[in-house]
Amino acid sequence: MRKKVTIVGAGNVGATTAHWIASKELADVVLLDVVEGVPQGKGLDLLEAMPIEKRDCHITGTNDYADSANSDIVVITAGIPRKPGMSRDDLLQTNYKIMSDVVNKVTAQSPNCILIIVSNPLDAMAQAAYRQAKLPRERVIGMAGVLDSARFRTFIAEELKVSVENVTAFVLGGHGDTMVPLPRYSTVAGIPITELIEKSRLEAIVQRTRDGGAEIVKHLKTGSAFYAPSAAATEMVEAILKDKKKILPCAAYLEGEYGISGYYVGVPCKLGERGIEQIIQIKLTPEEDAALKKSADAVKELCKVIGV
Ligand code: LAC
Repeated sequence: MRKKVTIVGAGNVGATTAHWIASKELADVVLLDVVEGVPQGKGLDLLEAMPIEKRDCHITGTNDYADSANSDIVVITAGIPRKPGMSRDDLLQTNYKIMSDVVNKVTAQSPNCILIIVSNPLDAMAQAAYRQAKLPRERVIGMAGVLDSARFRTFIAEELKVSVENVTAFVLGGHGDTMVPLPRYSTVAGIPITELIEKSRLEAIVQRTRDGGAEIVKHLKTGSAFYAPSAAATEMVEAILKDKKKILPCAAYLEGEYGISGYYVGVPCKLGERGIEQIIQIKLTPEEDAALKKSADAVKELCKVIGV
């Protein structure tokens, strides 16, 4: 039987996630949104591309949660995006209300699903979803580290003029200004980038990574990034559906790992059919550890505001 993935939110991130999933023939897709006509139109349009792409995926656009029943994975992208000058945190209250409502409805239809949270502010929204869903922590996962490390990898590849395939990189912490790119664990064909890029250039690349979301918002003016965020969510979907046991940086609910308890923070996770199958603990220097704790504190602040 084919796998089923529901995507809540048929905006740019949601619709483009549907596009990547269908183009990789990963699952049948339900595109769900409150706005009448938008998921139906985008869903049908994508369905009509399938003969050209030679992909047997069924895509349904709907406003009705009943159509999402028995999904293997639900990707939640619903919420308002950033405008220029807004931080991810400015979206907190509005997106919290939307998230609570969506989580109630999708878990009623798909009690055995894995939730992938994409809405911002990411870590607080993942925490809100986790509290609301009452699912085990391995089944409520936040997308951010894959996106942030993809941006880091892009800038490293451009700097060294090497294939993006040669570049692996890790970004830990919350998906915000305090995120923690880890040059020590970032490599080009196995060579640590600290050996290849001089310190001040590397610092500039790290800062550009932290500001990666805002850089796109500044260009677009009326919205935020969607190609890379949706590709990142799709990589997580693929790792789970294919039980790949792939290690990816994800926002996970920590219970003592990295000395942090009771919060969602970005850490390396092994993704497989059960969701987060392992949280990988790597050794951090005192500076890296302090940066991670600072990032976790920023997540805690937001969670406190909405009481999750
Ligand atoms: C970004 C937003 C979507 O990083 O959080 O592009």
